[in-house]
Amino acid sequence: MSVLLEVRNITKTFGGLAAVQDLSLAVGKGEILGLIGPNGSGKTTFFNVISSFLPPDRGQVIFDGREITALKPHVVTSLGLARTFQHPKPLLELTATKTSALRPSCETAKARKRPKLPGKF
Ligand SMILES: Nc1ncnc2c1ncn2[C@@H]1O[C@H](COP(=O)(O)OP(=O)(O)OP(=O)(O)O)[C@@H](O)[C@H]1O
Ligand SMILES: [Mg+2]
Repeated sequence: MSVLLEVRNITKTFGGLAAVQDLSLAVGKGEILGLIGPNGSGKTTFFNVISSFLPPDRGQVIFDGREITALKPHVVTSLGLARTFQHPKPLLELTATKTSALRPSCETAKARKRPKLPGKF
């Protein structure tokens, strides 16, 4: 199985607190990997670093053969690495259907060539 996401030696600290320390992992194409740990063990911080919402102190994130560590979150998303949030912040003015339909705007350029969804999005 070829590697799709590789995380090398990520460390993220907040002041004197090491939320993530020297964490490495690899996820293969088509693989589903779970990350578990007690409250405050650094799971969300780790996802924030992978998706470029937070810069790591050390380490690298490689997605599909390309280093993405220093890229902006929207660029990471456009490359095909998307995330959800622990605390959903729904767009209150949209219905659930319309909120779901926002997803294509976050997909890769290749996926954008699919037929457009009806309505104004
Ligand atoms: N922006 C921040 N500033 C300072 N400390 C933070 C920040 N974000 C997280 N932390 C701290 O980093 C540690 C890891 O937090 P994190 O939210 O990543 O854990 P978690 O595993 O996702 O927890 P939970 O299971 O409760 O969601 C905690 O001690 C938390 O208080
Ligand atoms: Mg969390």
